Order: sequence, then C-alpha cells, then structure tokens
Amino acid sequence: MAFDKFGRNIHYLRISLTDHCNLRCLYCMPEDMTFRPNADLMQDEEVLTLVKLFTELGFDKFRLTGGEPTVRANIVEIVRQIAQTPGVNSLSMTTNGVLLGKLAEPLKQAGLQRVNISLDTLDPIRFNSLTRWGKLDQVWDGILESEKAGLTPIKINVVVVRGHNDQDVPDMARLSYEHPWQIRFIEMMPFGGNSDFQQKQVVSDAELLELIQTNLDDPRLLDNGQLDGEARIYQLPGAKGTIGFISSVTNPFCAACTRARLTSDGKLRLCLLKEKEVDLLTPLRAGASLEDLKQVIKDGIWEKPWGHDLSKGKFATNRTMSEIGG
Ligand code: GTP
Ligand code: 5AD
Ligand code: SF4
Repeated sequence: MAFDKFGRNIHYLRISLTDHCNLRCLYCMPEDMTFRPNADLMQDEEVLTLVKLFTELGFDKFRLTGGEPTVRANIVEIVRQIAQTPGVNSLSMTTNGVLLGKLAEPLKQAGLQRVNISLDTLDPIRFNSLTRWGKLDQVWDGILESEKAGLTPIKINVVVVRGHNDQDVPDMARLSYEHPWQIRFIEMMPFGGNSDFQQKQVVSDAELLELIQTNLDDPRLLDNGQLDGEARIYQLPGAKGTIGFISSVTNPFCAACTRARLTSDGKLRLCLLKEKEVDLLTPLRAGASLEDLKQVIKDGIWEKPWGHDLSKGKFATNRTMSEIGG
C-alpha cells in the first residue's frame, strides 16, 4: 500500500493518455495550444508496465483522462489490457464525449466500466463557443450511446464559467429529473496559461445552489453531506438522477484525497494543483529495474503535498489543465 506522510492511503491513479484534444474549451487551454510530440508520450507498453507497478503498490482505481483520452491511437486495446491487469478493480474514463457515439460499445466490451462526460450547456451555440468549435449533437449522442452500452452510472461534469454558462445551470440540473445521471457542477480552478480568465469567472457552489433553488426546487442533501469522491450530492424532489457540487476552490476536499496522477509524458504528479512531479518515464526508458521504480513511486507518494493554496491565491503554473487531465 502507498501512504503519504499525512497518513492518506493513495490508491486512485488518474492516467492522462495524451495531452491532445479534439476541442479547445476556454477554461482548459489556449486556442493555439501546442501539443507534445508522440515520442514524448508514454507508449502503450510503458503505460501497461506502470499500471502493473501501481497495482503492486495497492492502487485499485484507475481513471483514463487526457487531453481527450479517446483521441489516443489504440484506445480500445489499451483499455482491454489495463482492464485485464490483476488488481485493477475499477476502470473508468473522463471524456468530452465527442467520439463516444462510435466508441462507447467497443470500450465497454474491452472492460471500461463507466464514463464521466464533460458537458457545460445544452445550448448548441454556447456549447460551440465554450469549446471553440464543438458540436453539441455529437456529445449528446455519445452520452446516449454510453448509457446504451452500460457505461453507467454516468456522471456529467459541468464547469461553470460566469458570463458563459451560469445561465445554463438550472437546465443542466433539470436533466437529473428525467435521467439517472449525476450532474456535477465544478468550480473552475486556475492553472498555468489561463489563470486570469479562470480566476475572474469562477462561480461558487453557494451561488450555484441558490440558482437551482430559485429556478427549480429545493434539492435534498444526500448521505448527510458525506462526499462521493470529491462531490457533495443532492437530489431534486422526484428526480431519477442526482446533482453534485465539486467545490475545489471554496470548500477543498484535500484531507480525503486518495489520488495521484500520471501525466501523458510519464511524470507522477502528486497533486492536481501543485507543481511537484516525479519523473517515471526517463528511468523506465533508461532501464531502471521494476523494483527500483516501485520505490521511486513509493517515495514520491510519501511526499505528496497536503493540498492546494488557492485560498491564498497560489496555484500551479507549470502545466495547463489539459496536460494533467483534471
Ligand atoms: P469519480 O470516480 O466518478 O468520483 O470520478 P472523479 O470525480 O474523480 O473524476 P472526474 O475526472 O470526473 O473529476 C471531476 C472534476 O473534479 C475534475 O475535472 C476536477 O475539476 C475535479 N478534481 C478531480 N480530482 C481532483 C483533485 O485531486 N483535486 C481537485 N481540487 N479537484 C479535482
Ligand atoms: N477547472 C475545473 N475543471 C476543469 N476541467 C477542465 N478545466 C478545468 C478547470 N480550469 C474539467 C473538465 C473535465 C475534466 C477533465 O476537467 O470539465 O470534466
Ligand atoms: Fe479538451 Fe477536456 Fe480540455 Fe475541453 S476540458 S479542451 S474537452 S481536455
């Protein structure tokens, strides 16, 4: 098992398979983003070797992220191999949904258990402008195909940006009446490259809840407010699904963090919002023994920072969100 020096058991690995993406969401990356050359990314075999090492350290929950994980070549085969690795109990993906119309079924067949899909508005024009060129229809089709394929329970991630989609919050919450989905409202976080925009336009959870109460109904807090992962969950009266709030900025959940991240260029990133990283790919390529690499991971996890300092206006500047995968 891998513990950090604060006694947290870290057993959830988020693997960014690529920094490339087929959209350019305003809150995630600049329009002229340059991506890493393929040779700098972990190759399929390297991903699998590292997954195996992490399972040997007690990691049992794996989430594939990007950029956009579905644009990675061989994605179905990579999922199949990871799913078959002993010790991988939970395997899911966070995706923008654009390619799920055709990939949902093959991914499910390959062993993917569920998907979290980003969708910030139900208005096709606002969707197009928030993502810089996305087509809402494709994502909607992707969500329905995922449901059909059984990639459930489906969670929808809504990053709320003032002046762009705060007006859409009630419509997004309304989806939970008809669909058994968890609609999660996420406070936007600042990262390198985009921080001015991100800090100015954040909408707090308190404001979001009020928007829902005023426009729809009073949602009921579930599980006495206990977090489901990082989300606080509510349900609107009579709804099939739920709504959740991920309030990284106004109500941090670092004390209960179980996460580590592997960036697409093979660095172990210890906290989403801190720059500290440990290079795993360079020693792997240099022929380090698997036992040595395991020790490097263990030592890295031990040094995981306690949490972020967003409340003091401090944030990580060495990578954009799209390079870390959320
Ligand atoms: P579940 O297994 O369904 O609970 O997935 P998840 O919520 O861990 O994954 P997802 O990729 O859907 O994460 C949703 C959002 O939560 C991300 O986009 C981030 O905004 C935020 N988030 C995820 N991990 C962290 C973290 O370690 N710290 C902070 N501050 N925010 C995080
Ligand atoms: N703050 C919070 N969440 C973000 N995401 C992307 N950029 C940000 C940001 N600045 C979310 C996406 C997706 C996940 C990968 O990260 O909506 O759900
Ligand atoms: Fe692409 Fe996801 Fe970033 Fe949007 S949030 S640009 S879909 S990586």
